[in-house]
Parts: sequence; structure tokens; C-alpha cells
Amino acid sequence: MAFFDPPPAARGGLHAAATERNRGPILEILRRVLPPSGLVLEIASGTGQHVAFFGRELPALRWQPSDPSPRHLDSIRAWTVASGADNVAPPMQLDVEMAPWPLVRADAILNINMIHIAPWSAAEALFRGAAPLLPAAGVLFLYGPFKRDGQHTAESNARFDERLRGEDPRWGVRDLVDVEALAAAAGFGAPEVIAMPANNLSLVFHRGVGAPQSAND
Ligand SMILES: C[S@@+](CC[C@H](N)C(=O)[O-])C[C@H]1O[C@@H](n2cnc3c(N)ncnc32)[C@H](O)[C@@H]1O
Repeated sequence: MAFFDPPPAARGGLHAAATERNRGPILEILRRVLPPSGLVLEIASGTGQHVAFFGRELPALRWQPSDPSPRHLDSIRAWTVASGADNVAPPMQLDVEMAPWPLVRADAILNINMIHIAPWSAAEALFRGAAPLLPAAGVLFLYGPFKRDGQHTAESNARFDERLRGEDPRWGVRDLVDVEALAAAAGFGAPEVIAMPANNLSLVFHRGVGAPQSAND
């Protein structure tokens, strides 16, 4: 994938530079919004750099990384071993569009930089698949670039969107309004929206009372 083809690092797995830049600001949000203990499922873990870092920084949580790509699964394993973290499980092969997902519950779910680099059906599947895993008020955290009211929030995001659509017309920077509507249809409340560096947003959704019955209820 031209947009996400990170090279191997000298130690650990594949190395995505952006992941190293955004992990600190994301961690600050996670410290506040994640539960104090329990299982956090990461969807689309990519290289595995994030989960190795979050696992080390938030040791009271158990972490379950996942990705559909065998190359990424190898990289996640390598970073997990290199980090020495004993609270990060071996990665699961999970494509959000598969059914059923290979686990039945999670106390929180993270999805960083995926829904713009996948078809809209993946965003639909993400919310549909996440809701039944979470307890009432459980957190679904998303991070990435988003349009607001049909407008890009920065020229760099507009250029990125063009490149994404050029690579695959089904991809593209999503509009926050559309993502909120999808989330509401799956039973999540309106998100807390947090401006992040480099014109990205963090979206913190909570599973609401209207969500499908969960194994966690
Ligand atoms: C841009 S990378 C982001 C990786 C990582 N979260 C990060 O921020 O460094 C996008 C990731 O989404 C994954 N992905 C794409 N389509 C997916 C799907 N349908 N279900 C789950 N993951 C998917 C890819 O394999 C890739 O690892």
C-alpha cells in the first residue's frame, strides 16, 4: 500500500515515522478517557509501534492488537517482543469487514488512521462490529484527519485527500458529520472532538443505551 509501506527498523518491526510523532499526544487523551483497567482492543494496529508504546505507558490495561495484514502482524509481534511489555497479547488477524470478529468483548476499542485509507464500508463495519463488544458507556476512540461540514480543515488535508482518492476512489478523508451519523446508527453517543497536532482529530465515542446488547452488559 503506497500510503502505508513503512520500512523495517534496526530493532523491532516496521517503522512508521508519523506513529512516533503522534503517539505522545494520543497517549495524553487515552490516559484520560480509557478505563483504569480491562482489555483494550486496537483495530488496524499497523506496525505495532503504538500498541507497544501504549502498553508500556498504561501497564494496568491489557492490550489486544489486530490487523488484517500478515506483514503487519509480524511487525506487531516484533515490536511487542522488543518492548518487553507483558500486557500486550499476540496480535489477532482482524479485518473489520469479517463476521463475526474473533473476540466477543473489550472494555475499550482504538482505531487510529484507518477509515480514510479503507472503503466507507470499513467505517460502517467498524462501528457495527465495535458496539456489541463494549460495555455500556465503553469508549471507541478514533484518530485521523476529518472534514468538518464538507470542508477540509487544512490545505495539507485537502492534498492528502486527493492523493488518497487517486490511489483508490473508495478512500478519502471522511466528514465528521457522516462519521457521527454512522456512530449514532450503531448506538454511540455524540463524540468528544479534540483537535490534535498536524490537523488531525481525536474522536471519543461512548457506547450508549441504544446500542445492541453486549457480552459485557
Ligand atoms: C495508515 S495504517 C495505520 C496503522 C496504525 N494504526 C498507525 O496509526 O500507525 C492503516 C491500517 O489499517 C489497516 N486496515 C485497512 N483496512 C482494514 C480493515 N478493513 N480492517 C482492519 N484494518 C484495516 C491496514 O492493514 C493498516 O495497518
